[in-house]
Amino acid sequence: MADAPEKKVILSGIQPTGTFTLGNYIGAVRNWGPLQEQYRCLYFIADQHAITVRIEPAQLRQKTLEAYAQLLACGIDLDKSLVFIQSHIPTHSQLAWVLNCSTQFGELSRMTQFKDKSRKHPDDINAGLFDYPVLMAADILIYQADLVPVGIDQMQHLELARNIANRFNGRYGETLKVPEGYMPPIGAKVMSLQDPTKKMSKSDTNPNAVILILDDKDTIIRKFKRAVTDSEMEIVYREGKDGINNLLTIYSVVTGKSIDDAVREFDGKGYGDFKLAVGEAVADHLEPVRSEYARLIQDKAYLKECYTRCAGEALKMSYRTLNKVYKKVGFVPTELR
Ligand code: TYM
Repeated sequence: MADAPEKKVILSGIQPTGTFTLGNYIGAVRNWGPLQEQYRCLYFIADQHAITVRIEPAQLRQKTLEAYAQLLACGIDLDKSLVFIQSHIPTHSQLAWVLNCSTQFGELSRMTQFKDKSRKHPDDINAGLFDYPVLMAADILIYQADLVPVGIDQMQHLELARNIANRFNGRYGETLKVPEGYMPPIGAKVMSLQDPTKKMSKSDTNPNAVILILDDKDTIIRKFKRAVTDSEMEIVYREGKDGINNLLTIYSVVTGKSIDDAVREFDGKGYGDFKLAVGEAVADHLEPVRSEYARLIQDKAYLKECYTRCAGEALKMSYRTLNKVYKKVGFVPTELR
């Protein structure tokens, strides 16, 4: 009997710099669970990326475990996917070094996230911050990933990963799979509730701008009630109505209704009623995530067993690519790996 065709590989990561936002959830993590049925999925906590900005060691450790539990609580099933912690897999940074030598200074200088973060932390523009997209490329290319589900803000980094893979293959021969991005059809950029022209971000200093997936119901509703909209009275999806568009998008994703249906549902209603309805729908949608997280975070032994087992499998997979790459670039082989 012929072997079943190998499943395509999906890979994505998230930084453990704080509780996941509704942006992380809608733009990325929420979509990761359903992909498990069709693909070979690998998801990880990008703790090595997190130290490109200053973070207390104890806090990083704590946030990494919390992020791991949040991923599981968001519906990722360890019988179907591998979920691991980036720093447990040394091959990512080993590949990153090789890829650095196929990446141009000019390309990295153009990364908008590097420019934004340099502006935000002018006293700590470290080499890791600059080189971050190359480590991200290695995260992806080391597993020969076919698809990378991310929000819009990561597309520039993904494009760079594709360029690096193409350049490496051009120089050394076909070695690295060139990955495709995979963006959700709706919600690839969830906006701040306080400034709907800006993306919702974990690092926002205004807590009312951001919904955290572990916020309780009252907090979620209060934040939506304060959401900035506009001075009109019409609930429609239209250019220029950034606040309302964002709320309609969020409502549509968490209820599964289309934007048109949502617009019809609120026809003739005021902004106050609409914001309350969005808040309630989001809180109800996130309730199972919150309770599953509360259960998981108590069980540190279980989490350790999961991330250790998954790291072992991911490491094995990753060595296949690293060994090929090392051979292609001309490193003398060793029995040690
Ligand atoms: P991070 O931790 O900033 O975000 C994780 C995921 O959430 C998405 N996202 C959003 N989507 C919609 N609306 C928003 N407001 C919003 N905010 C964040 C991001 O696009 C991302 O998909 N560099 C990555 C982590 C990473 C990675 C990787 C991802 C490291 N290596 C390899 C994919 C593949 C990051 O900082 O994501």
